[in-house]
Amino acid sequence: MDDTDAFEAAVYDAWTDASDLPWTEDVAFYRRLAREADGPALEVGVGTGRVYLELRRDGIDIDGIDLSAARLAHLRETADAEGIDVSVRQADVTTFDPDREYGLVYCPARVFNLVTSLADQRAALQNIHDALAPGSRFALNTFAPDPHFVAETYGEPSEIEVAVDGATYTLRDVMELDDAIERVGTQHREVVDADGDVVFETETPLALVTKREFELLFADAGFSDWTFYGGFDGGPLETTSQELVAVAER
Ligand SMILES: C[S@@+](CC[C@H](N)C(=O)[O-])C[C@H]1O[C@@H](n2cnc3c(N)ncnc32)[C@H](O)[C@@H]1O
Repeated sequence: MDDTDAFEAAVYDAWTDASDLPWTEDVAFYRRLAREADGPALEVGVGTGRVYLELRRDGIDIDGIDLSAARLAHLRETADAEGIDVSVRQADVTTFDPDREYGLVYCPARVFNLVTSLADQRAALQNIHDALAPGSRFALNTFAPDPHFVAETYGEPSEIEVAVDGATYTLRDVMELDDAIERVGTQHREVVDADGDVVFETETPLALVTKREFELLFADAGFSDWTFYGGFDGGPLETTSQELVAVAER
């Protein structure tokens, strides 16, 4: 891991703290599901631990996986500073071998959209299904793709300021729909310092996955039932301005 990766992890962590993104209202929801679960929980895509550490602070038995060694290192540093034990490891959801049988697997923060090919989406859901004890649940949240929103906002930069180690940076994000047939796009991010210089850039491919596709993917992986909600309070999914929340049962 080099310094850029560590800095990227710190910027990511500051971003999830600073932004009022709809997917950051999820902690109470996943905490409740983990408490209701009959067995340990697994978070897929723990990142720097925004959700994971909150559940560990409550003493919940939970493992985490993530692709990024730098984000996991950041998570461990935060946990060490607070004296919290953590159980996280670097793994890809499309190929991981579960260490144990879980009472809950969850995929917060639109992580599932980062799995972009259909083959990888099927593999990810099969792995998640197989990691669950019979009768237990998988939950995720994402956005419901809206063609009007894509037409109006994709290609347009949006900016947010974050503070990292006492310095202020501007995150300049632009979403592009690269492939309208496969509905796969890229989030381009420039991290700009106070002098206006671009410190680094990231390109994150993501898939726009509809409710119907999730239904097919859940059926394909062998889940027995699933329910969709609009937001984290258990209400119906009625508009694309709501966060799409899905709970599937093994
Ligand atoms: C949007 S962040 C969410 C982080 C954290 N859960 C949160 O809520 O702030 C997505 C995370 O998913 C991870 N990720 C992406 N693809 C993955 C994959 N195939 N397997 C495991 N983790 C993945 C990324 O490395 C990143 O840290």
